[in-house]
Amino acid sequence: MELLPEDNLKSNLLLLLLLHLFVGSFAGDCPKPEVGENMVLSEAALLKNDFPEGSKVLLECARGYEKASGSGTIDCVDNKWTEPDLNCKKLDCGQPKPEPHMSFNTSGGTVFGSRIKVICEEGYWILGTSFKHCYATGWFGKATCKIFTCPKPAEVKNGKNSWIADTVPEYGQVINFTCNEGYVLSGSKNITCGKTKYDSPPPQCIERTTASPSATTVIARIFTSISTPQQGDKFITFEKKAPRTSEPSSTTTSLKGI
Ligand SMILES: *[C@@H]1O[C@H](CO)[C@@H](O)[C@H](O)[C@H]1NC(C)=O
Ligand SMILES: *[C@@H]1O[C@H](CO)[C@@H](O)[C@H](O)[C@H]1NC(C)=O
Ligand SMILES: *[C@@H]1O[C@H](CO)[C@@H](O)[C@H](O)[C@H]1NC(C)=O
Repeated sequence: MELLPEDNLKSNLLLLLLLHLFVGSFAGDCPKPEVGENMVLSEAALLKNDFPEGSKVLLECARGYEKASGSGTIDCVDNKWTEPDLNCKKLDCGQPKPEPHMSFNTSGGTVFGSRIKVICEEGYWILGTSFKHCYATGWFGKATCKIFTCPKPAEVKNGKNSWIADTVPEYGQVINFTCNEGYVLSGSKNITCGKTKYDSPPPQCIERTTASPSATTVIARIFTSISTPQQGDKFITFEKKAPRTSEPSSTTTSLKGI
């Protein structure tokens, strides 16, 4: 019996296939290992392509994770990799170091991937990023707490304020106002710097009025408001004694209509 060339080719292919399966299973090759999401292959293993029976591969914790337990070695046994005993846990960035007047809300945790809020004390504002992120390299995000300031207090006409510094007033600082002689203050006598503005407008200095005049002014006014005496008017006469040392004299004043 003679084999046809076509049959010959088929049998050769079959033989090659069988040989491959046979040799392959006996050689105990393992595929490139697949690892969990917290782990990576060591660099040496990454460069390899053949993993014959009995070969060992080292696994490492991925970026942002650290070894909690285990060795990380897996073995190629009977075409398969043994289960890794490596345990990786997220890196902990810990409590970040606060800048002055700063605190953090770490209720969301401080491990790899966490985000924490930067909090500034009352009267301060955040310059920079208002959140810090925990990366594999540590906390990322920079901020400082700056105190609120107010513009220099306004000058008051006919008075002055107590602010003498060259700098601007800061949150919580009080500025007093005083008026010059002959003027009285209208409004609040002090203002407090809040978050960029004052709690009240500056006061005004207004000219002292005759609202509470002295007794002599009142008497003088009474006299000037009374007209000159007319014929037939009755008079009351006041007599004023002159000081003892000087020449005796008398002043007579008349009041009309009594
Ligand atoms: C911290 O943030 C959480 C929400 O992320 C919020 O519920 C909590 O009240 C905050 N705590 C403080 C002290 O601000
Ligand atoms: C403002 O007045 C208060 C008293 O009312 C005083 O204690 C304070 O020192 C004054 N401030 C300045 C800057 O003069
Ligand atoms: C500011 O003025 C008010 C009255 O206008 C007074 O009660 C208060 O003590 C003053 N504050 C300061 C710090 O002088």
